[in-house]
Amino acid sequence: MVRALRLLASCALFSQALAHSHILYLIINGQQYRGFNPHAPDAITNSIGWSTSAVDDGFVTPFNYSSPDIICHRDGKPAKAHAPVKAGDKIQIQWNGWPQSHKGPVLSYLSPCANTTDGCASVDKRKLSWTKIDDSSPVLLDEKGGPPGRWATDVLIAQNNTWLLGLPNDLEPGPYVLRHELIALHYANLKNGAQNYPQCVNLWVEVPGSKTATVGKEELVVAGQKEGVPATALYKATDPGVAIDIYTTLSTYVIPGPTLAPEAKPVPVPEQGLKSTITAVGTPVVVTRATSTVPMLNGKTAAAFKG
Ligand SMILES: *[C@@H]1O[C@H](CO)[C@@H](O)[C@H](O)[C@H]1NC(C)=O
Ligand SMILES: *[C@@H]1O[C@H](CO)[C@@H](O)[C@H](O)[C@H]1NC(C)=O
Ligand SMILES: *[C@@H]1O[C@H](CO)[C@@H](O)[C@H](O)[C@H]1NC(C)=O
Repeated sequence: MVRALRLLASCALFSQALAHSHILYLIINGQQYRGFNPHAPDAITNSIGWSTSAVDDGFVTPFNYSSPDIICHRDGKPAKAHAPVKAGDKIQIQWNGWPQSHKGPVLSYLSPCANTTDGCASVDKRKLSWTKIDDSSPVLLDEKGGPPGRWATDVLIAQNNTWLLGLPNDLEPGPYVLRHELIALHYANLKNGAQNYPQCVNLWVEVPGSKTATVGKEELVVAGQKEGVPATALYKATDPGVAIDIYTTLSTYVIPGPTLAPEAKPVPVPEQGLKSTITAVGTPVVVTRATSTVPMLNGKTAAAFKG
C-alpha cells in the first residue's frame, strides 16, 4: 500500500516535473495584481512579485535552508512595484496550478522594509525580519481512507489553486514584503526531500481611512521588526515538519517555522472558499521619499517612474 502510494507520488512528480508553480496574481479588494512570471520575466513591467531564476518553477531544498535562496526563492530580487493594501484586508493568492501529490503546509510571513526611500524596491533581503501571519493550521485535516490524508494544499487545490490570506488588523502603515510559501512533503521521507516554494510580493500598507498615499514619518513604525526572524533561520532540515514520512499514519503534524504572531488573522479552512472576483486590474504603486507613492502602470508609461 505504502509502496503503491510512493510510486503514485513519484509518477505524479514525474509528470509535473516541468510544471510546479509560481504565483500568477493576487486579488485585493477586487483589484488584480500580477506576480512574477519566470517564463516571461519582462512581460509585466509593474509586477509586484520578486524576480527569481526559478525558470523550472522549482523549489528550494532543506540543504539550502541557510542560504539566501530560501528568502525569496532562487536569486530573488525585489520588485519596484507594491500593491496598496489596508490592515485587515484579505488577499487572494492565485497559484499557477498545484500537483495533488505535493501535500503540505501553506505559510505566510511579513517583513517590514526599513531604512529605504523606495519601500521594498532596494531592500537588502538578508536584513528582512519575518513574522508568521498564517500557518494554515490545521495543515493535516484528516486521514480518512488512510495516509497521506488531506492537507492544506488540498484545500488550495479545491479552490482553483488559491489561498485566502488575512492581514493583521493592527498592521502599521508602510512597505512590507509578503513571503508566501508552499512546502511539498511527498519526498520528505528522503534526505533533503522536502520542497519549499517561497514567493515574495511587495505591499504598501496605507494609513487607515486616508485617501492619500502619504504616510507620516512618525507613522512609519517598523512593525514586527523586533520579534521577526531572518528567513535563513526559519527552518532546519531536521525539523519534524519537514523531515517526515506522510505515507505513514500521523497523529499530529508540527508546522515548520516560528509560532504564529498573536496579531495574525488567518482565514480558517471553511472560509477559504469565500473567493474574490476580479473587478479591475489593480494599479500598483512605487514608493518615493520613503513616505509617499505614485502609481506604476504596466508598459511604456511605467518608464516615467523608473527614474
Ligand atoms: C543550493 O541551491 C543552489 C542553486 O541555487 C544549488 O546549486 C546548490 O546545489 C544548493 N545546495 C544544496 C546543498 O542543496
Ligand atoms: C482558476 O485559475 C485560473 C488560473 O490558474 C484562472 O485563469 C481562472 O479564471 C480561475 N477560475 C476561476 C473560476 O476563478
Ligand atoms: C534600520 O536602521 C536601524 C537604525 O540604524 C537599525 O537598527 C536596523 O537594523 C535597520 N534595519 C534594517 C532592516 O536595515
